[in-house]
Amino acid sequence: MAVMTRSERRLRFDLPRLDKVPTHVAIIMDGNGRWARRRGLPRSVGHRQGTENLRRIIRAAVEFGVEIMTIYAFSTENWSRPRREVLLLMRILEMVIDRELEELNDEGVQIRHIGELEGIDRRLARKVLEACEYTRANRRLILNVAFNYGGRDEIVHAVQNIVRDGIRPEDISEATISDYIYTRDLPDPDLIIRTSGEFRLSNFLIWQGAYSEIYTTETYWPDFDREEFHAALQEYGRRRRRFGKTDDQIEGEFPQRAPLKARPI
Ligand code: FPP
Repeated sequence: MAVMTRSERRLRFDLPRLDKVPTHVAIIMDGNGRWARRRGLPRSVGHRQGTENLRRIIRAAVEFGVEIMTIYAFSTENWSRPRREVLLLMRILEMVIDRELEELNDEGVQIRHIGELEGIDRRLARKVLEACEYTRANRRLILNVAFNYGGRDEIVHAVQNIVRDGIRPEDISEATISDYIYTRDLPDPDLIIRTSGEFRLSNFLIWQGAYSEIYTTETYWPDFDREEFHAALQEYGRRRRRFGKTDDQIEGEFPQRAPLKARPI
């Protein structure tokens, strides 16, 4: 575990304690390009600032006691961006692995990849797999990196594998699908955060997000700081999650979590 500096220790006590911390937080890190444009800078600078911010938010997630975080780093639709930007996002992932892996490992972060590695440069794909393997034993925070990920694509792959495994139609239930998607051993996200004032899921965790609380903010991702992350978690704590039940039924049910499967850690 990395040693905290005095100023970091001081920061840890500057925010109110959270009564209810979501187990699994998923984030659509949107607005890097607009952040840069507003400053008259190239989009690449926005992505770099977004990457810096990701480090801060991962640390904050560990600090706040979030157990699983899923980040949308590159969607199957992002291939249609200009080639230069696609290459930059690939390079950023490689750079994050090269430069941050040791520190993430020291912090107890387990890196996982969700999405398809097919179609990604072989060297990068190997690095991703190595980073996952290297951090496999860590238990403090599971960091799912959605890279070359699409929710519909994920469901298509799940169905293909169900058919391949010869499962009979009458034996297929929602639990079967949940067992075949990338996040099969994890609980669904309790909270999905989207920055930059957009109100869409954009093909992110569309199966898993069925009952997730959604928090949106006008803030562009590079500016979404630890304080606002904390505010999002506070807001989550005020929500009443009903999972289709009535208010009376859920009265007294606490803690509220998506009704799902085994807890991962
Ligand atoms: C959306 O902003 C952001 C992305 C498509 C990429 C998110 C990537 C990072 C935050 C960097 C970390 C990356 C990795 C690979 C770990 P946008 O470019 O769509 O912004 P805009 O909507 O304002 O144009």
